[in-house]
Amino acid sequence: MAYETIEVSVQGHVGVIKLDRPKALNALCKELAGEVAIALESFAADDAIGCVVLTGSERAFAAGADIKEMQSDGYIDLFLDNRFESFTAIERFRKPIIAAVAGYALGGGCEIAMMCDFIICADNAKFGQPEINLGVMPGIGGTQRLIRAVGKSKAMDLCLTGRMMDAAEAERSGLVSRVVAPDALMETVMEAADKIAAQSRIAAMMTKETLNIAFETTLSQGIQYERRLFQSMFTTHDQKEGMSAFIEKRKPHFTNK
Ligand code: CAA
Repeated sequence: MAYETIEVSVQGHVGVIKLDRPKALNALCKELAGEVAIALESFAADDAIGCVVLTGSERAFAAGADIKEMQSDGYIDLFLDNRFESFTAIERFRKPIIAAVAGYALGGGCEIAMMCDFIICADNAKFGQPEINLGVMPGIGGTQRLIRAVGKSKAMDLCLTGRMMDAAEAERSGLVSRVVAPDALMETVMEAADKIAAQSRIAAMMTKETLNIAFETTLSQGIQYERRLFQSMFTTHDQKEGMSAFIEKRKPHFTNK
């Protein structure tokens, strides 16, 4: 499919979605939201893909929802097309997905980065939820995900003042897993993505699902869920292969069975 607002490519077993509206700093218009959902659907259906990377440009991952597009909208417009609902394709995506963030990740940009499983950023990254400066508030899960990622005090500070947080502060507060130089960002992220894509698909997807359950459940229910999935893995060929390879001092060859 020909995309207008994103670039989609495959590198080995990794699918890459690059947000591509440079003139608007990758602002998240409706078309872009729909295209990201379509690209994710195709990567979900593609057995060759084991991991996805969502990225932007060196200047901006995304500077938020498209202010020019929504400025004149009313409640009914947003309600009827359930605005931003298509981004839930990111949270519904079952294979691992990494956000590679350079430059601005503001508003909806920060929110879709947080929907990914983890964020690796360049040292020029700037995160924030500046919606309050526009007389509104985060609308793609920012209030709920940011508070879980960085705690109440910093989430309140960011959402209420609308200030930006640099990469060092983002790493300190646990929003991102690693910070690297801008020219090392894609290499670092692709290395992580390749590693994930080479694991047993079953183990990677069950691991992701189980970590995410922690946000939705009590500790004892989460531990029970983990134990059951761990036990279920002993029905897989990949478990036998992974453990045999360790004992035989060789690399495992996973077949996702
Ligand atoms: N929507 C639409 N256009 C945007 C945009 C956005 N979110 N962010 C930047 N742009 C456009 C600018 O209007 C400008 O276009 P023109 O050249 O046609 O004027 C172009 O991108 C470049 O931007 P700037 O000239 O402003 O670049 P800068 O380097 O001076 O500033 C910036 C960069 C600090 C990121 C600034 O652009 C900015 O503050 N952007 C808005 C950030 C924001 O408020 N995001 C939240 C949006 S609301 C939201 O996301 C709601 C939600 O949760 C669902």
